[in-house]
Amino acid sequence: MVGLIVTALVLVLAIIIGLLIYFLAYDQSSHYYQASFQIPSMEYDPEFSVEHSKASRDLKEKINTEIDQVFQRSILSQHYIKSHVVNFRPTNRGLEANVLITFQFPSTRVDTMKWQADNILHENFKSSKSFLKIDISLPHLREMHEAQAKHILNSCCGLGMEYPPVERIAGGKTAAQAAWPWQASLQMDGSHWCGASLISQDWLVTAAHCFDNSKNPKLWTVSFGATLRSPLMRRKVDSIIIHENYAAHKHDDDIAVVRLSTPVPFSEEVHTVCLPDATLEVSPKSKVFVTGWGASKVNGPFPNTLRQVQVEIISNDICNHVNVYGGAVSSGMICAGFLTGKHDACEGDSGGPLVITLDRNIWYLIGIVSWGIGCGKENKPGLYTRVTHYRDWIKSKTNI
Ligand code: ARG
Repeated sequence: MVGLIVTALVLVLAIIIGLLIYFLAYDQSSHYYQASFQIPSMEYDPEFSVEHSKASRDLKEKINTEIDQVFQRSILSQHYIKSHVVNFRPTNRGLEANVLITFQFPSTRVDTMKWQADNILHENFKSSKSFLKIDISLPHLREMHEAQAKHILNSCCGLGMEYPPVERIAGGKTAAQAAWPWQASLQMDGSHWCGASLISQDWLVTAAHCFDNSKNPKLWTVSFGATLRSPLMRRKVDSIIIHENYAAHKHDDDIAVVRLSTPVPFSEEVHTVCLPDATLEVSPKSKVFVTGWGASKVNGPFPNTLRQVQVEIISNDICNHVNVYGGAVSSGMICAGFLTGKHDACEGDSGGPLVITLDRNIWYLIGIVSWGIGCGKENKPGLYTRVTHYRDWIKSKTNI
């Protein structure tokens, strides 16, 4: 009897200690803070409020890098996740940047962590060490509710898979579900037909040739989420706008925009990809990703779960070589894959995104799966509609 009681007590004690250790050391939850920084050396420029203008991208990059460095060199390096410039505004002390900073640590340590983070900011930004300044009055960080922070992050374009993957904290969740949140499936009579990319709450970009058989919006639906069966959301199509110069069974101007009948609410799993400026140039050999539910070989079945493949940009000159596509590649197309073959998009991927990560892990749509000879064949890489070439066309149709 005594033995039984002792064993039970020891067991209970062990469970309590185990739980305590878990909560103290391993319960890593995300904590979000808002902070404002002044940049006295700079004047406000309306370009800073245009989300993807060169000026705002460059400045955001500079600020995020500075904040990264400060925390990565600090005692909080293991807990710092990232900084995200939300917006800019003019003040009488110069330009002000509003930044969302994310940390991961056990909830039991909220007070100490915040105190340490405040001190780190104070130490690094009070003096003339940095171009960023912070008000001398503590505290600098204002706690933010998870829902509010997520709302801000999810309404920004291009947040997707972390690339290259970084192992930060044990227990950090994998991105798999939310890796390519702009990817949609364009379906005719309920079955997957093409891919498409979400660029606002109600507009998608896709390929014109997806509509070669039917342009009637009533026959089309769009699904979101990484699986075709049991998707996260479905929407009806309100209208389809095909490029005026597109001619069926030709490859030029293979672009269309699709408007949903009702907007989609943004979440971690469903939100937009960024559209690059018309001036963005992507250099050959850049690593890019293409995603879709297309077949893994010619005439193969469509998978249920979204797949991704990494390919490389190939210059139009090389792609137009006699052994490759011998002159069929025009300036509105961009070539990606490998001359050695193997990795490529395939049937069913059409209309889907070719994306590149720029500015510390923000994904930009640079291509739309368009055509190719076979799939993954030697000297026959994939051809994509060059999004920068049609940037103004997209703007003229969608105002995005
Ligand atoms: N045209 C095909 C489709 O309708 C996609 C072609 C992409 N082919 C390639 N080899 N990259 O789905």
